[in-house]
This record gives sequence, structure tokens and C-alpha cells, in this order.
Amino acid sequence: MRSLAVIGAQWGDEGKGKIVHLLSGKADVICRYQGGNNAGHTVVTGGKKYVLHLVPSGILKEDKVCIIGNGVVVNPYALQEELNMLKEAGVGAKSRLFVSDRAHLIMPYHIELDKAYEESLGIGTTKRGIGPAYTHKYARIGIRPCDLAEKGYMEAAVTRALDEVNTILVKRFGRKPVEKRDVMKTIEEYREIINPYLTDTAKLLNRYIQEKRKIIYEGAQGVLLDVDCGSYPYVTSSSPVPGGILTGLGIGLKSIGEVVGIIKAYTTRVGSGPFPTELEDETGSLMRERGAEFGASTGRPRRCGWFDAVSVKYVLMVSGIDRLAMTKFDVLDGIGPVRVCTGYRLDGQVISDPPPQCECSWKSSAGI
Ligand code: IMP
Repeated sequence: MRSLAVIGAQWGDEGKGKIVHLLSGKADVICRYQGGNNAGHTVVTGGKKYVLHLVPSGILKEDKVCIIGNGVVVNPYALQEELNMLKEAGVGAKSRLFVSDRAHLIMPYHIELDKAYEESLGIGTTKRGIGPAYTHKYARIGIRPCDLAEKGYMEAAVTRALDEVNTILVKRFGRKPVEKRDVMKTIEEYREIINPYLTDTAKLLNRYIQEKRKIIYEGAQGVLLDVDCGSYPYVTSSSPVPGGILTGLGIGLKSIGEVVGIIKAYTTRVGSGPFPTELEDETGSLMRERGAEFGASTGRPRRCGWFDAVSVKYVLMVSGIDRLAMTKFDVLDGIGPVRVCTGYRLDGQVISDPPPQCECSWKSSAGI
């Protein structure tokens, strides 16, 4: 096996965790490069069901190294919860799970901001603080694991961040301000949780690449949720496309051998946004029931509909996908005739590419 990227080729929840688990038997290292604990990768193995949000699915195979790269946003409380769950199941992570010292941390105030913005924007986010954590990263007021031990720097960094955060929370949303002492306490707790796993993961991974180890790059969400190539603004705030692997892990172009896209035999999406093949009828309900289509992170019912070849064809193009793996074909057993969308009808015209604008076009187009 060559090193490969496993990416979601729809709106997430295609079954990436299952495929990564299957392939990880042949790999040495499994890496997450974007997103955070908004993901929910479900793996059933040894008669037990695991839902992983942040830790790469490869952790379930004993001897595999797992890396959470610099492109991920990490909530150490969520990480601890996941590690406790794994420990209880007899799965150890010490000495084989590594978290980038340059990743960005999801602070409790990012979660507050996510909830506040959600009330006005209605994206249908997971409310895990993902968008605000990436916003602060790019605004250069984010906090990284490597900053936590620098007391003086942290004082100044938290003051800077809270100036922004409290202006928005209090003035714009009429909420209570976040207290600096609470943030400083969180920082102490974060440091204790995350310290044992920290390293320069780019350096570690590049060494593995030089040693010709087999790497799996595990995407979270799906390309239709990509902030650049997806159904903007109804997207997540990171880059599930293979391009995100290079920046999210600090590796070179030639490190990805091939790209495997995961698709489901029908389409689902959680949250708001366009969905031309959505079925709001008995067939949609049947898909949801049979396919257990409820969010692995939030438990929200997933919207269901027919396979959308228009959006998947676009995803193949922007992601350079070499092969496809299809999951959940059996869910359609007995449902007939099975339909596949080959074009969208918009204002009386048939179009064969997803339009760039969601509110006025994509959202109101119907699959044919
Ligand atoms: P956020 O990533 O929490 O900001 O949410 C933005 C959008 O991405 C929302 O529509 C979420 O429902 C969706 N989303 C985020 N993570 C996942 C996932 O793992 N599977 C499916 N949808 C997701």
C-alpha cells in the first residue's frame, strides 16, 4: 500500500472512520489534519462500537502511531474524555498518540461565541467552537499548546483575546463577559492534559515519510463542507480537501501517494444549506432509520436524499480523487427504483455543476 488520503466526498458522514480502520491494518501512521471534535468517526470492532471525534481512527489498532496535526483545532477536555473512553475499553494511547505543539486550542469562549453566532447565522454548526477557534487562528489571536507554558506570554495573549471576545459577547449579543481568571484556570488544566502528547508533529511525520513508512491521512467532514470548495457559507471552517493535508501537517506535495474518496450510496447532510436531492418523505425517513442516520457528535437527525452525482463529480475534480469506496449500499435494499441525480434544474434550466452561490441558486435548485 502507498501512503494515502481518505477523504469524505459528500457532506461528511460517508463512513471514513470505518474505511480508515479497515486500511490501517496495512499502515504505520494515521494522521488527522483538519477539523476538531466536530467530527464523529464510528468504528465497530471486536463487537464494540467506538465513536472517535478527535483521535485518529487508527488508535484502535494496537501498534499504530497516531498524529493530530497543526491544522487541527484541539479541545483538551474533549481529548481527555476520548482518551478516558479508550482507556476503559483497554486501548492505550501513551507513546503512540502525538499532538502538534502548533495546533490551535479551542477555548471555552470559542464555544460561547459559536453558540452566539449560531443564533444569528443559522449554519447549523455542532457548537463545538470550531469556527471561532479558526477565526482567531487567522486573526492571529489564537492560543496554541506551545504557548501554554509561557506564563508572561499567556497573560498578554489572553488579555488580547478577551478584548475581542468580550466586545462581541457583551456589545453584540448582550451576554455575560468571560472572566480572565477563569481562562487562566482553563489554561492550567489544558496544560496538564495535553503536555504528555505534545511534539513537533511535522518533524516526526517527515521523518516517517523519509523512512518510507505507510501513512494514512484521515479527513474529517467532507469536501462539500470545505470552506473553499464547499457549499459556502454552509460549510465548516477548515479544509477537508487533500490540499488541507499539506498545510495541516507540514509535509510536501509528494507525500500523498493516492487519494481515496468515500461516498455513501445516497446523500446525507447535518445542519442547514442546499441539498437538491433531499427527500422529505417516507423514503427519506426509511433511509434515516435503516442507515442509523443520526449525528455521531450531536445526535441530530441527518437529512437524507438520493445520490447526487453532480456534487460528487465536482468533488472528484477539486480533490484529485484516484479511487472511490462506496458505503451503505445495503441501506437501499428493497427501496426502488433507486434514483441518481445527474443535473440540477434551476430557473427552468438544467445545470451540471453546483452553482457557487448558495442562498439564491444552489439552495433553490432541484435534483433531476
Ligand atoms: P462546525 O464544523 O461545527 O462549524 O459546523 C459547520 C457545518 O459542518 C454544520 O453544517 C455541521 O453540521 C457540519 N459538520 C461539522 N462536522 C461534521 C461532521 O463530522 N459530519 C457532518 N457534518 C459536519
